[in-house]
Amino acid sequence: MSYNIFFILMLTLVHSTFSSLSPPDRAALESIRDSLTDMPGSSFFSTWDFTTPDPCSTFSGLACTSLGRVTTLSLGPNLSGSLSPSISNLTHLTQLVLYPGSVTGPLPPRFGSLPLLRVISITRNRLTGPIPNSFSSLSYLHTLDLSYNQLSGSLPPFLTTLPRLKVLVLASNQFSNNLKPVSSPLLHLDLKMNQISGQLPPAFPTTLRYLSLSSNSMQGTINALAPLTELTYIDLSMNQFTGAIPNSLFGPTTSSMFLQRNNFTSISNATAISLPQGSTVDMSHNSISGELPPSLAGAESLFLNNNRFTGDIPEEYVRSLTNGTTKTLFLQHNYLTRFPWNSGSQLQDSVSLCLSYNCMETDPIVGLSTCPVEVAPLLSRPAIQCSRFYNHSSTG
Ligand SMILES: *[C@@H]1O[C@H](CO)[C@@H](O)[C@H](O)[C@H]1NC(C)=O
Ligand SMILES: *[C@@H]1O[C@H](CO)[C@@H](O)[C@H](O)[C@H]1NC(C)=O
Ligand SMILES: *[C@@H]1O[C@H](CO)[C@@H](O)[C@H](O)[C@H]1NC(C)=O
Ligand SMILES: *[C@@H]1O[C@H](CO)[C@@H](O)[C@H](O)[C@H]1NC(C)=O
Ligand SMILES: *[C@@H]1O[C@H](CO)[C@@H](O)[C@H](O)[C@H]1NC(C)=O
Ligand SMILES: *[C@@H]1O[C@H](CO)[C@@H](O)[C@H](O)[C@H]1NC(C)=O
Repeated sequence: MSYNIFFILMLTLVHSTFSSLSPPDRAALESIRDSLTDMPGSSFFSTWDFTTPDPCSTFSGLACTSLGRVTTLSLGPNLSGSLSPSISNLTHLTQLVLYPGSVTGPLPPRFGSLPLLRVISITRNRLTGPIPNSFSSLSYLHTLDLSYNQLSGSLPPFLTTLPRLKVLVLASNQFSNNLKPVSSPLLHLDLKMNQISGQLPPAFPTTLRYLSLSSNSMQGTINALAPLTELTYIDLSMNQFTGAIPNSLFGPTTSSMFLQRNNFTSISNATAISLPQGSTVDMSHNSISGELPPSLAGAESLFLNNNRFTGDIPEEYVRSLTNGTTKTLFLQHNYLTRFPWNSGSQLQDSVSLCLSYNCMETDPIVGLSTCPVEVAPLLSRPAIQCSRFYNHSSTG
Protein backbone atom coordinates (compact mmCIF):
# COMPACT_ATOMS: atom_id res chain seq x y z
CA MET A 1 0.00 0.00 0.00
CA SER A 2 2.73 2.44 0.93
CA TYR A 3 4.39 1.66 -2.34
CA ASN A 4 1.17 2.57 -4.22
CA ILE A 5 0.84 5.89 -2.45
CA PHE A 6 4.45 6.69 -3.17
CA PHE A 7 3.90 5.89 -6.82
CA ILE A 8 0.80 8.09 -7.07
CA LEU A 9 2.70 10.93 -5.36
CA MET A 10 5.49 10.58 -7.87
CA LEU A 11 3.05 10.80 -10.78
CA THR A 12 1.40 13.87 -9.27
CA LEU A 13 4.79 15.51 -8.92
CA VAL A 14 5.68 14.78 -12.51
CA HIS A 15 2.39 16.35 -13.57
CA SER A 16 2.60 19.46 -11.48
CA THR A 17 6.20 20.44 -12.13
CA PHE A 18 6.48 21.53 -15.73
CA SER A 19 7.90 18.87 -17.94
CA SER A 20 10.48 19.96 -20.42
CA LEU A 21 10.04 19.07 -24.05
CA SER A 22 11.93 15.90 -24.95
CA PRO A 23 15.07 16.54 -27.05
CA PRO A 24 13.95 14.63 -30.18
CA ASP A 25 10.61 16.43 -30.19
CA ARG A 26 12.33 19.79 -29.66
CA ALA A 27 14.59 19.11 -32.66
CA ALA A 28 11.58 18.13 -34.76
CA LEU A 29 9.62 21.27 -33.76
CA GLU A 30 12.60 23.47 -34.64
CA SER A 31 12.72 21.92 -38.07
CA ILE A 32 8.92 22.26 -38.51
CA ARG A 33 9.16 25.90 -37.44
CA ASP A 34 11.98 26.54 -39.93
CA SER A 35 9.99 25.27 -42.91
CA LEU A 36 6.87 27.39 -42.26
CA THR A 37 6.20 31.13 -42.00
CA ASP A 38 3.31 33.30 -40.99
CA MET A 39 1.61 34.95 -43.93
CA PRO A 40 1.33 38.75 -43.72
CA GLY A 41 -1.08 39.65 -40.90
CA SER A 42 -0.81 36.26 -39.20
CA SER A 43 1.06 35.79 -35.92
CA PHE A 44 0.71 32.09 -35.22
CA PHE A 45 4.41 31.58 -34.48
CA SER A 46 4.73 34.57 -32.14
CA THR A 47 4.53 32.22 -29.13
CA TRP A 48 7.10 29.78 -30.51
CA ASP A 49 10.15 30.95 -28.59
CA PHE A 50 12.60 28.05 -28.26
CA THR A 51 14.42 29.78 -25.37
CA THR A 52 11.41 29.45 -23.04
CA PRO A 53 11.77 26.63 -20.49
CA ASP A 54 8.40 25.04 -21.24
CA PRO A 55 7.28 25.06 -24.90
CA CYS A 56 4.61 22.48 -24.04
CA SER A 57 2.57 25.04 -22.16
CA THR A 58 3.50 28.22 -24.03
CA PHE A 59 3.58 27.34 -27.76
CA SER A 60 0.26 27.77 -29.55
CA GLY A 61 -1.07 24.60 -31.09
CA LEU A 62 0.94 22.24 -28.90
CA ALA A 63 -0.05 19.63 -26.31
CA CYS A 64 2.34 17.15 -24.71
CA THR A 65 2.37 14.15 -22.40
CA SER A 66 3.64 14.62 -18.86
CA LEU A 67 6.98 13.36 -20.13
CA GLY A 68 7.32 16.14 -22.68
CA ARG A 69 6.31 14.18 -25.78
CA VAL A 70 4.18 16.08 -28.30
CA THR A 71 0.69 14.58 -28.71
CA THR A 72 -1.15 17.34 -30.55
CA LEU A 73 0.20 19.72 -33.16
CA SER A 74 -2.22 22.27 -34.66
CA LEU A 75 -0.55 24.65 -37.10
CA GLY A 76 -1.96 27.87 -38.50
CA PRO A 77 -4.16 29.23 -39.99
CA ASN A 78 -2.50 31.41 -42.61
CA LEU A 79 0.91 29.78 -42.90
CA SER A 80 3.05 29.37 -46.00
CA GLY A 81 6.11 27.23 -46.64
CA SER A 82 6.05 23.44 -46.49
CA LEU A 83 5.57 20.61 -44.00
CA SER A 84 8.91 19.36 -42.69
CA PRO A 85 9.46 15.59 -42.92
CA SER A 86 10.54 15.90 -39.26
CA ILE A 87 6.85 15.81 -38.29
CA SER A 88 7.38 12.05 -38.46
CA ASN A 89 9.87 12.31 -35.57
CA LEU A 90 7.05 13.28 -33.18
CA THR A 91 6.45 9.64 -32.40
CA HIS A 92 3.78 10.25 -29.75
CA LEU A 93 1.62 12.40 -32.00
CA THR A 94 -2.08 11.53 -31.94
CA GLN A 95 -3.46 14.59 -33.72
CA LEU A 96 -2.00 16.68 -36.55
CA VAL A 97 -3.89 19.69 -37.85
CA LEU A 98 -2.89 22.25 -40.47
CA TYR A 99 -5.50 24.98 -40.72
CA PRO A 100 -6.20 26.80 -44.02
CA GLY A 101 -3.30 28.71 -45.55
CA SER A 102 -0.92 28.46 -48.51
CA VAL A 103 1.40 25.66 -47.48
CA THR A 104 2.85 23.92 -50.54
CA GLY A 105 4.89 20.77 -51.20
CA PRO A 106 4.14 17.12 -50.42
CA LEU A 107 2.66 15.36 -47.42
CA PRO A 108 5.34 14.19 -44.96
CA PRO A 109 6.58 10.86 -46.36
CA ARG A 110 7.29 8.85 -43.19
CA PHE A 111 3.97 8.82 -41.34
CA GLY A 112 4.48 5.09 -40.76
CA SER A 113 6.57 5.99 -37.72
CA LEU A 114 3.55 7.66 -36.09
CA PRO A 115 1.57 4.64 -34.99
CA LEU A 116 -0.60 6.56 -32.51
CA LEU A 117 -2.03 9.08 -34.99
CA ARG A 118 -5.80 9.25 -34.75
CA VAL A 119 -6.54 12.52 -36.56
CA ILE A 120 -4.88 14.07 -39.60
CA SER A 121 -6.55 17.22 -40.87
CA ILE A 122 -4.60 19.16 -43.49
CA THR A 123 -7.18 21.18 -45.39
CA ARG A 124 -7.41 24.20 -47.70
CA ASN A 125 -3.71 24.59 -48.40
CA ARG A 126 -1.79 23.91 -51.60
CA LEU A 127 -0.24 20.53 -50.98
CA THR A 128 0.67 18.50 -54.04
CA GLY A 129 1.73 14.96 -54.85
CA PRO A 130 0.33 11.57 -53.82
CA ILE A 131 -0.72 10.08 -50.50
CA PRO A 132 2.49 8.33 -49.35
CA ASN A 133 2.46 4.56 -48.89
CA SER A 134 3.48 5.01 -45.26
CA PHE A 135 -0.13 5.98 -44.50
CA SER A 136 -0.93 2.27 -44.77
CA SER A 137 0.49 1.63 -41.30
CA LEU A 138 -1.74 4.19 -39.54
CA SER A 139 -3.81 1.53 -37.87
CA TYR A 140 -5.28 3.87 -35.25
CA LEU A 141 -6.31 6.55 -37.74
CA HIS A 142 -9.89 7.66 -37.15
CA THR A 143 -10.11 10.83 -39.27
CA LEU A 144 -8.24 11.73 -42.44
CA ASP A 145 -9.19 15.07 -43.96
CA LEU A 146 -6.97 16.31 -46.80
CA SER A 147 -9.70 18.27 -48.57
CA TYR A 148 -9.14 21.38 -50.72
CA ASN A 149 -5.52 20.83 -51.68
CA GLN A 150 -3.97 19.86 -55.02
CA LEU A 151 -3.07 16.28 -54.16
CA SER A 152 -3.07 13.81 -57.03
CA GLY A 153 -2.42 10.23 -58.05
CA SER A 154 -4.53 7.13 -57.59
CA LEU A 155 -6.52 6.60 -54.43
CA PRO A 156 -4.25 4.10 -52.68
CA PRO A 157 -6.07 0.81 -52.02
CA PHE A 158 -4.97 0.67 -48.37
CA LEU A 159 -6.70 3.94 -47.57
CA THR A 160 -10.22 2.55 -47.54
CA THR A 161 -9.15 -0.57 -45.64
CA LEU A 162 -7.55 1.14 -42.61
CA PRO A 163 -9.09 -0.77 -39.71
CA ARG A 164 -10.33 2.16 -37.61
CA LEU A 165 -10.98 4.85 -40.20
CA LYS A 166 -14.37 6.49 -39.67
CA VAL A 167 -14.03 9.81 -41.53
CA LEU A 168 -12.34 10.11 -44.93
CA VAL A 169 -12.51 13.50 -46.64
CA LEU A 170 -10.47 14.00 -49.81
CA ALA A 171 -12.83 16.50 -51.47
CA SER A 172 -11.49 18.95 -54.04
CA ASN A 173 -8.14 17.48 -55.01
CA GLN A 174 -7.01 15.82 -58.23
CA PHE A 175 -7.20 12.17 -57.27
CA SER A 176 -7.84 9.93 -60.24
CA ASN A 177 -8.57 6.32 -61.14
CA ASN A 178 -11.05 4.06 -59.46
CA LEU A 179 -12.46 4.00 -55.99
CA LYS A 180 -10.96 0.90 -54.37
CA PRO A 181 -12.88 -1.62 -52.22
CA VAL A 182 -13.99 -0.05 -48.95
CA SER A 183 -13.75 -2.13 -45.79
CA SER A 184 -12.95 0.54 -43.18
CA PRO A 185 -15.84 1.15 -40.77
CA LEU A 186 -16.56 4.52 -42.39
CA LEU A 187 -19.32 6.85 -41.23
CA HIS A 188 -18.38 9.73 -43.54
CA LEU A 189 -16.87 9.44 -47.03
CA ASP A 190 -16.42 12.60 -49.08
CA LEU A 191 -14.55 12.34 -52.40
CA LYS A 192 -16.37 15.10 -54.28
CA MET A 193 -14.61 17.24 -56.88
CA ASN A 194 -11.83 14.88 -57.95
CA GLN A 195 -11.21 12.95 -61.17
CA ILE A 196 -12.32 9.53 -60.00
CA SER A 197 -13.59 7.32 -62.80
CA GLY A 198 -14.79 3.76 -63.26
CA GLN A 199 -17.54 1.93 -61.44
CA LEU A 200 -18.38 1.74 -57.76
CA PRO A 201 -16.60 -1.03 -55.83
CA PRO A 202 -18.94 -3.94 -55.08
CA ALA A 203 -19.55 -3.14 -51.42
CA PHE A 204 -19.59 -0.31 -48.91
CA PRO A 205 -19.73 -0.48 -45.12
CA THR A 206 -23.34 -0.29 -43.97
CA THR A 207 -22.20 2.08 -41.24
CA LEU A 208 -22.05 4.97 -43.77
CA ARG A 209 -24.15 8.00 -42.87
CA TYR A 210 -22.65 10.56 -45.27
CA LEU A 211 -21.52 9.82 -48.82
CA SER A 212 -20.47 12.33 -51.45
CA LEU A 213 -18.97 11.33 -54.79
CA SER A 214 -20.25 14.45 -56.57
CA SER A 215 -18.41 15.91 -59.57
CA ASN A 216 -16.27 12.98 -60.61
CA SER A 217 -16.47 10.79 -63.72
CA MET A 218 -17.97 7.66 -62.26
CA GLN A 219 -20.12 5.30 -64.33
CA GLY A 220 -22.26 2.19 -64.05
CA THR A 221 -25.13 1.37 -61.75
CA ILE A 222 -25.34 2.22 -58.05
CA ASN A 223 -26.65 -1.16 -56.94
CA ALA A 224 -23.66 -1.45 -54.59
CA LEU A 225 -25.23 1.36 -52.51
CA ALA A 226 -28.58 -0.42 -52.03
CA PRO A 227 -27.60 -1.88 -48.63
CA LEU A 228 -26.80 1.60 -47.25
CA THR A 229 -30.08 2.17 -45.47
CA GLU A 230 -28.63 4.43 -42.76
CA LEU A 231 -27.52 7.26 -45.05
CA THR A 232 -28.72 10.68 -44.06
CA TYR A 233 -26.81 12.52 -46.79
CA ILE A 234 -25.97 11.21 -50.24
CA ASP A 235 -24.59 13.23 -53.14
CA LEU A 236 -23.80 11.45 -56.40
CA SER A 237 -24.54 14.46 -58.58
CA MET A 238 -22.56 15.25 -61.71
CA ASN A 239 -21.28 11.81 -62.64
CA GLN A 240 -22.41 9.39 -65.35
CA PHE A 241 -24.21 6.84 -63.22
CA THR A 242 -26.92 4.84 -64.99
CA GLY A 243 -29.73 2.39 -64.30
CA ALA A 244 -32.22 2.35 -61.45
CA ILE A 245 -32.05 4.29 -58.19
CA PRO A 246 -32.56 1.70 -55.41
CA ASN A 247 -35.56 2.61 -53.25
CA SER A 248 -33.62 1.54 -50.14
CA LEU A 249 -31.56 4.76 -50.41
CA PHE A 250 -34.64 6.72 -49.41
CA GLY A 251 -34.67 5.80 -45.76
CA PRO A 252 -36.59 7.32 -42.86
CA THR A 253 -33.39 9.20 -41.97
CA THR A 254 -32.51 10.49 -45.46
CA SER A 255 -32.52 14.25 -45.23
CA SER A 256 -30.53 15.14 -48.35
CA MET A 257 -30.33 13.24 -51.58
CA PHE A 258 -28.54 14.74 -54.56
CA LEU A 259 -28.60 12.50 -57.64
CA GLN A 260 -28.90 15.20 -60.28
CA ARG A 261 -27.02 15.33 -63.56
CA ASN A 262 -26.43 11.64 -64.08
CA ASN A 263 -28.12 9.24 -66.46
CA PHE A 264 -30.43 7.35 -64.12
CA THR A 265 -33.39 5.83 -65.93
CA SER A 266 -35.77 4.73 -63.16
CA ILE A 267 -36.47 4.43 -59.44
CA SER A 268 -36.78 0.82 -58.34
CA ASN A 269 -39.97 -0.03 -56.46
CA ALA A 270 -40.80 3.58 -55.68
CA THR A 271 -43.99 2.61 -53.83
CA ALA A 272 -41.79 1.39 -50.98
CA ILE A 273 -40.29 4.85 -50.39
CA SER A 274 -41.20 6.87 -47.33
CA LEU A 275 -39.45 10.21 -47.02
CA PRO A 276 -39.08 12.09 -43.76
CA GLN A 277 -40.46 15.61 -43.65
CA GLY A 278 -37.92 18.33 -44.23
CA SER A 279 -35.90 16.37 -46.79
CA THR A 280 -34.38 17.56 -50.05
CA VAL A 281 -34.43 15.23 -53.05
CA ASP A 282 -32.82 16.29 -56.31
CA MET A 283 -33.02 13.87 -59.24
CA SER A 284 -33.11 16.55 -61.92
CA HIS A 285 -31.30 16.23 -65.25
CA ASN A 286 -31.44 12.46 -65.61
CA SER A 287 -33.34 10.18 -68.00
CA ILE A 288 -35.96 8.91 -65.58
CA SER A 289 -39.18 7.79 -67.25
CA GLY A 290 -42.54 6.55 -66.02
CA GLU A 291 -45.07 8.27 -63.79
CA LEU A 292 -44.18 10.46 -60.83
CA PRO A 293 -44.08 8.32 -57.67
CA PRO A 294 -46.66 9.63 -55.16
CA SER A 295 -44.29 8.45 -52.41
CA LEU A 296 -41.92 11.38 -53.07
CA ALA A 297 -44.55 13.92 -52.07
CA GLY A 298 -43.25 14.13 -48.48
CA ALA A 299 -40.08 16.04 -49.47
CA GLU A 300 -39.67 19.69 -48.53
CA SER A 301 -37.71 20.36 -51.72
CA LEU A 302 -38.23 18.08 -54.69
CA PHE A 303 -36.39 18.56 -57.98
CA LEU A 304 -37.54 16.14 -60.70
CA ASN A 305 -37.12 18.55 -63.61
CA ASN A 306 -35.43 17.64 -66.89
CA ASN A 307 -36.37 13.98 -66.98
CA ARG A 308 -38.83 11.92 -69.02
CA PHE A 309 -41.69 11.66 -66.54
CA THR A 310 -45.10 11.16 -68.14
CA GLY A 311 -48.70 11.05 -66.96
CA ASP A 312 -50.62 13.21 -64.51
CA ILE A 313 -49.04 14.81 -61.45
CA PRO A 314 -50.30 12.85 -58.41
CA GLU A 315 -52.81 14.52 -56.07
CA GLU A 316 -50.34 13.96 -53.20
CA TYR A 317 -47.93 16.49 -54.72
CA VAL A 318 -50.59 19.17 -54.79
CA ARG A 319 -51.72 18.37 -51.25
CA SER A 320 -48.14 18.61 -49.95
CA LEU A 321 -47.82 22.02 -51.60
CA THR A 322 -51.05 23.36 -50.16
CA ASN A 323 -50.54 21.95 -46.65
CA GLY A 324 -47.04 23.40 -46.39
CA THR A 325 -45.02 20.14 -46.48
CA THR A 326 -43.41 20.89 -49.86
CA LYS A 327 -41.82 24.30 -50.32
CA THR A 328 -40.07 23.72 -53.66
CA LEU A 329 -41.36 21.53 -56.48
CA PHE A 330 -39.57 21.64 -59.82
CA LEU A 331 -41.16 19.50 -62.53
CA GLN A 332 -40.27 21.49 -65.64
CA HIS A 333 -38.97 19.79 -68.78
CA ASN A 334 -40.87 16.53 -68.55
CA TYR A 335 -43.91 15.16 -70.42
CA LEU A 336 -46.45 15.60 -67.63
CA THR A 337 -50.06 15.93 -68.72
CA ARG A 338 -52.10 17.38 -65.82
CA PHE A 339 -51.67 19.37 -62.61
CA PRO A 340 -54.74 18.51 -60.50
CA TRP A 341 -55.23 22.00 -59.15
CA ASN A 342 -58.43 22.98 -57.40
CA SER A 343 -59.11 26.60 -58.29
CA GLY A 344 -60.25 27.30 -54.71
CA SER A 345 -56.80 26.32 -53.31
CA GLN A 346 -54.09 28.71 -52.23
CA LEU A 347 -50.32 28.49 -52.36
CA GLN A 348 -48.21 30.22 -49.74
CA ASP A 349 -45.97 32.97 -51.14
CA SER A 350 -42.86 31.07 -50.09
CA VAL A 351 -43.66 28.11 -52.37
CA SER A 352 -41.60 27.68 -55.55
CA LEU A 353 -43.37 25.66 -58.20
CA CYS A 354 -42.13 25.21 -61.75
CA LEU A 355 -44.18 23.34 -64.33
CA SER A 356 -42.88 24.82 -67.61
CA TYR A 357 -42.27 22.79 -70.71
CA ASN A 358 -44.56 19.87 -70.07
CA CYS A 359 -47.54 18.54 -71.95
CA MET A 360 -50.37 20.18 -69.97
CA GLU A 361 -52.89 22.79 -70.68
CA THR A 362 -51.43 26.03 -69.49
CA ASP A 363 -54.66 27.33 -68.03
CA PRO A 364 -54.40 26.22 -64.37
CA ILE A 365 -50.69 26.84 -64.07
CA VAL A 366 -50.25 30.34 -65.40
CA GLY A 367 -49.78 32.44 -62.31
CA LEU A 368 -48.90 29.47 -60.09
CA SER A 369 -45.63 28.59 -61.71
CA THR A 370 -42.65 30.50 -60.33
CA CYS A 371 -39.76 29.10 -62.32
CA PRO A 372 -36.14 30.04 -61.69
CA VAL A 373 -34.92 32.77 -64.03
CA GLU A 374 -32.77 30.43 -66.09
CA VAL A 375 -35.82 28.42 -67.21
CA ALA A 376 -37.07 29.78 -70.52
CA PRO A 377 -40.56 31.23 -70.06
CA LEU A 378 -41.95 28.76 -72.53
CA LEU A 379 -44.96 27.17 -70.92
CA SER A 380 -45.60 24.06 -72.97
CA ARG A 381 -43.71 21.65 -75.12
CA PRO A 382 -44.46 21.69 -78.82
CA ALA A 383 -47.60 19.59 -79.30
CA ILE A 384 -45.77 17.16 -81.56
CA GLN A 385 -43.50 16.09 -78.66
CA CYS A 386 -46.57 15.42 -76.53
CA SER A 387 -48.17 13.02 -78.97
CA ARG A 388 -48.38 9.54 -77.52
CA PHE A 389 -46.59 8.29 -80.63
CA TYR A 390 -43.68 10.55 -79.94
CA ASN A 391 -40.43 8.78 -79.17
CA HIS A 392 -39.09 10.36 -75.93
CA SER A 393 -35.73 8.67 -75.98
CA SER A 394 -33.92 11.48 -77.72
CA THR A 395 -35.27 14.59 -75.95
CA GLY A 396 -34.59 15.52 -72.33
C1 LIG B 1 14.38 12.85 -37.39
O1 LIG B 1 14.72 11.50 -37.27
C2 LIG B 1 15.68 11.06 -38.20
C3 LIG B 1 15.80 9.56 -38.09
O2 LIG B 1 15.78 9.15 -36.76
C4 LIG B 1 17.00 11.80 -37.96
O3 LIG B 1 17.95 11.40 -38.91
C5 LIG B 1 16.72 13.29 -38.13
O4 LIG B 1 17.89 14.04 -37.82
C6 LIG B 1 15.60 13.76 -37.22
N1 LIG B 1 15.27 15.12 -37.54
C7 LIG B 1 15.26 16.07 -36.63
C8 LIG B 1 14.95 17.44 -37.11
O5 LIG B 1 15.47 15.83 -35.47
C1 LIG C 1 -6.33 34.39 -42.12
O1 LIG C 1 -6.46 35.03 -43.37
C2 LIG C 1 -7.79 35.31 -43.73
C3 LIG C 1 -7.81 35.82 -45.15
O2 LIG C 1 -6.80 36.77 -45.35
C4 LIG C 1 -8.38 36.28 -42.72
O3 LIG C 1 -9.73 36.55 -43.03
C5 LIG C 1 -8.32 35.67 -41.33
O4 LIG C 1 -8.77 36.59 -40.36
C6 LIG C 1 -6.89 35.25 -41.00
N1 LIG C 1 -6.90 34.52 -39.73
C7 LIG C 1 -5.94 34.65 -38.82
C8 LIG C 1 -6.14 33.89 -37.56
O5 LIG C 1 -4.94 35.33 -39.02
C1 LIG D 1 -28.11 7.62 -70.96
O1 LIG D 1 -28.62 6.30 -70.99
C2 LIG D 1 -29.34 6.00 -72.17
C3 LIG D 1 -30.00 4.63 -72.00
O2 LIG D 1 -29.19 3.77 -71.26
C4 LIG D 1 -28.38 6.09 -73.34
O3 LIG D 1 -29.06 5.82 -74.53
C5 LIG D 1 -27.79 7.48 -73.40
O4 LIG D 1 -26.81 7.57 -74.40
C6 LIG D 1 -27.14 7.87 -72.09
N1 LIG D 1 -26.81 9.27 -72.12
C7 LIG D 1 -25.63 9.74 -71.68
C8 LIG D 1 -25.46 11.23 -71.76
O5 LIG D 1 -24.78 9.02 -71.21
C1 LIG E 1 -41.61 -3.25 -53.20
O1 LIG E 1 -41.80 -2.78 -51.89
C2 LIG E 1 -42.89 -3.35 -51.20
C3 LIG E 1 -43.08 -2.63 -49.87
O2 LIG E 1 -41.86 -2.54 -49.17
C4 LIG E 1 -42.63 -4.85 -51.05
O3 LIG E 1 -43.71 -5.46 -50.40
C5 LIG E 1 -42.41 -5.47 -52.42
O4 LIG E 1 -42.04 -6.82 -52.29
C6 LIG E 1 -41.31 -4.73 -53.19
N1 LIG E 1 -41.26 -5.23 -54.55
C7 LIG E 1 -40.10 -5.49 -55.15
C8 LIG E 1 -40.19 -5.93 -56.57
O5 LIG E 1 -39.02 -5.37 -54.60
C1 LIG F 1 -49.59 17.01 -46.38
O1 LIG F 1 -49.96 16.22 -47.50
C2 LIG F 1 -49.18 15.05 -47.71
C3 LIG F 1 -49.62 14.41 -49.02
O2 LIG F 1 -50.94 14.03 -48.97
C4 LIG F 1 -49.33 14.14 -46.51
O3 LIG F 1 -48.51 12.98 -46.70
C5 LIG F 1 -48.86 14.87 -45.27
O4 LIG F 1 -49.06 14.07 -44.14
C6 LIG F 1 -49.64 16.19 -45.11
N1 LIG F 1 -49.03 16.94 -44.03
C7 LIG F 1 -49.74 17.68 -43.18
C8 LIG F 1 -48.95 18.41 -42.15
O5 LIG F 1 -50.95 17.72 -43.24
C1 LIG G 1 -37.35 5.22 -80.57
O1 LIG G 1 -36.04 5.65 -80.94
C2 LIG G 1 -35.09 4.64 -80.86
C3 LIG G 1 -33.71 5.26 -81.14
O2 LIG G 1 -33.83 6.38 -81.98
C4 LIG G 1 -35.45 3.54 -81.87
O3 LIG G 1 -34.50 2.52 -81.78
C5 LIG G 1 -36.84 3.01 -81.51
O4 LIG G 1 -37.22 2.05 -82.48
C6 LIG G 1 -37.86 4.11 -81.49
N1 LIG G 1 -39.15 3.61 -81.02
C7 LIG G 1 -40.28 3.92 -81.59
C8 LIG G 1 -41.53 3.34 -80.98
O5 LIG G 1 -40.35 4.64 -82.58
